[in-house]
Amino acid sequence: MKIAHNYVGVSTKRPYIFSFFVDRRLKLGVLGGEDNLARLLCPRAGPVLHDTGASVRILADLKTIDEQDEKTFMSLNEIAKKLVASGKGIMAADRPRATFEQLLESEGIPVDEGAYRNWSELLFTTPSLNEYVSGIIMTPEQTRLRNDASEPLIAGVIDRGMIPGISPFKGMVALAGSDGETVGSGLDGLRERLAEFAAMGVGFTKWRAAFQIGPGTPSYYAIEANAYVMAQVAALSQEAGLAPIVEPEVMLLGDHTIARCFAVTEWVLSRTFEALYVHRVDLEGTLVKASMVVSGRDCPEQADVDTVAEQTVKVFRRGIPAAIPGIVFLSGGQSDYHATAHLNAMNANYELPWKLSFSYARALQREPMRIWGNRAENAASAQAALYQRAKMNGLASLGFWTEELESEAGVSTG
Ligand code: G3H
Repeated sequence: MKIAHNYVGVSTKRPYIFSFFVDRRLKLGVLGGEDNLARLLCPRAGPVLHDTGASVRILADLKTIDEQDEKTFMSLNEIAKKLVASGKGIMAADRPRATFEQLLESEGIPVDEGAYRNWSELLFTTPSLNEYVSGIIMTPEQTRLRNDASEPLIAGVIDRGMIPGISPFKGMVALAGSDGETVGSGLDGLRERLAEFAAMGVGFTKWRAAFQIGPGTPSYYAIEANAYVMAQVAALSQEAGLAPIVEPEVMLLGDHTIARCFAVTEWVLSRTFEALYVHRVDLEGTLVKASMVVSGRDCPEQADVDTVAEQTVKVFRRGIPAAIPGIVFLSGGQSDYHATAHLNAMNANYELPWKLSFSYARALQREPMRIWGNRAENAASAQAALYQRAKMNGLASLGFWTEELESEAGVSTG
């Protein structure tokens, strides 16, 4: 996929020859010739950038170039819109191998060499999952896994009409000089890695920042540092033709009130969008992966479903521009029931400028993993459970879910 386009433009209307490039954001850079002529013939171009270091690759008619770039630009927006198509959401399957194996151990499920591949294959090949799942977030290792016939699992995902996404980060590291706060690592070489993922058919990225509410946290420092890293990754993703999902997670852990969660979420969103602006990220080609505004897990007073919906919508209206095509939630440790009920309440009761859907890991996979238990003979039942959770959340993304549907499916409301 092309990162930027460098052209020699030969006007069909005027006898001038000049060279320029148009990047993904339709920023026009003139390498030689007349700025004004280039602007006249490429009217949709943004501010002129002077970049004499770029090489000239294509001799072409300006009209053709304008059409080409419109297509390129639209593709980011189209990816984002497809990920939040009506009734659909995203499955976050991007647990790295080490975390996955620890989870199996903690659940008393036997771990073996093939477990990671077998679980990934089970998730990716669940029959009819594409009715409710538009895209699957993978780890770099998962993009390279193959089935017994040696076919890449990622090819099967694309064939089933779902968009593969990548979580390219290399884990959380301590933020230097902070009191235990973190930032995602993996920026080194990211431009080249993203180009490789794009060539494999990946359509989007996801990058997470985690903010723990506590005495004095999150700090101004952690919010600023993470906002800039998320924005840098988003800009690099768009440069590679990948729609970024920006994930500023305000964590559920803690005994804070819902009011504190609201205030922290408002602060984090405002700084995140300021950083996206500074980094020239196209909002139309970006999704937000957000946490809901909830009471801390250990808060004695737990907000009810309607209050969570009301406060979450309120903070998003303040902090997330309507240009963003969609917001997809993480489940963050909520029960399967609450993750679905909260999503449904927002979609059923509010007029919203963005699509609100899901990008759950635990709230989709908790029950299927328990059923599977790393036994091949349980794979079909685990896939049926995954399909059911995807369906419940797909309905919730339309505001069509009901509690009765859950009890029919035998899911606890705890
Ligand atoms: O990046 C965050 C996770 O993929 C979402 O996982 O739904 O279990 O919170 P979760």
